[in-house]
Amino acid sequence: MEVRQIKMETKRTKVIRVEEPFRPDREGLAEAGEILRAGGLVVFPTETVYGLGANALDPDAVSGIFRAKGRPSDNPLIIHICKIDQVYELADDFTVQAQRAAEAFWPGPLTLILPKKACIPAQVTAGLNTVALRMPDNPVALALLETAGIPVAAPSANTSGRPSPTTVDHVLRDLDGKVDVVVDGGSCRIGLESTVLDMTSEPPVILRPGGVSREDLEGVLGHTDIDASSYDHDSPGIPRSPGMKYRHYAPKAKVVLVNGKELNDISNKVNELIANYHSQNLTVGVLASGETVQGYGAEAAFPLGSRVQLETVAQNLFYGLRFLDDCNVDIIIAEGYPDEGIGTAIMNRLRKAAGGNLVMV
Ligand code: TXA
Ligand code: MG
Repeated sequence: MEVRQIKMETKRTKVIRVEEPFRPDREGLAEAGEILRAGGLVVFPTETVYGLGANALDPDAVSGIFRAKGRPSDNPLIIHICKIDQVYELADDFTVQAQRAAEAFWPGPLTLILPKKACIPAQVTAGLNTVALRMPDNPVALALLETAGIPVAAPSANTSGRPSPTTVDHVLRDLDGKVDVVVDGGSCRIGLESTVLDMTSEPPVILRPGGVSREDLEGVLGHTDIDASSYDHDSPGIPRSPGMKYRHYAPKAKVVLVNGKELNDISNKVNELIANYHSQNLTVGVLASGETVQGYGAEAAFPLGSRVQLETVAQNLFYGLRFLDDCNVDIIIAEGYPDEGIGTAIMNRLRKAAGGNLVMV
């Protein structure tokens, strides 16, 4: 099956929010919406990462998502909506706290876990009695959801376990021939996934740190907990967010994460490790920051952006992991970042990518 790309005219430079007029390719979007209604698979851009969408109320269509990604069936999906009212059709209880969160952060990179309504197929929620809902902040995504007229279940549009795609090129590397249509909306502004927030407990619990920081959530909701599994690679017990138990965001190369308080210590350790790997005839790529990228004698180095602008680092993170993987290096060494603001989500993804290979200095 050949994947057709529907080219969209939309914003491409996402960190600086220069408003360009969004000119939806109405015909293309109408066709993509029709494919969704008919049970097909449509990849579409969101502000976080690309999503692999299907009609959330059609169990067969949803099964197609799991097949295309090679995703374990016990990992539930996020349902994407374009109007707040849709929450009442999908969730059994929209508490005052959840409404406050939605009003403050939707459309945006926040996913709310709420009690589910019976109309949602078990495939979507992996048999849980809760459902994950999110309204994305991307004009192409919102226009598609509107024209489709149905709630759309969509995980990130990558092969299970790989870094999430932030460009159509990366989507096609994983899913060419496995989906019906890819809607091209340029590169994703935030670059890592939404924050998953469990609103069924008091206080609410962050199950996956993401585009909305804990600090921002607490400004609206008061004290908010963060699930231990988002820090710890192998935390014991049953994860509350099933997706967090799998090795994730992993390129083919082995990833080593180097972290510490002082940037100097981090970069010295990275250089020491490079020398070590070179002595074993292994090639190295470094996922560096703008401040340090020039100082590494590795086969490849990718600058994620300045440390004083962690949003840029987040935006480039998955792109950089995939870029270094395409350089076919044996080892990817990543620098660590402060665990605050968007840095919490960056560090969560880097820890998962490193799968326990953590060096502290
Ligand atoms: O930014 C995003 O969230 C992107 C874009 C496409 O919207 N989507 C995304 O989906 O990252 P996915 O499937 O890659 O990650 C969904 C996460 C998983 O960790 C999953 O376990 C969790 O949300 N999740 C979904 N439903 C849940 C539920 N009912 N309870 C707890 N966790 C849930
Ligand atoms: Mg994913």
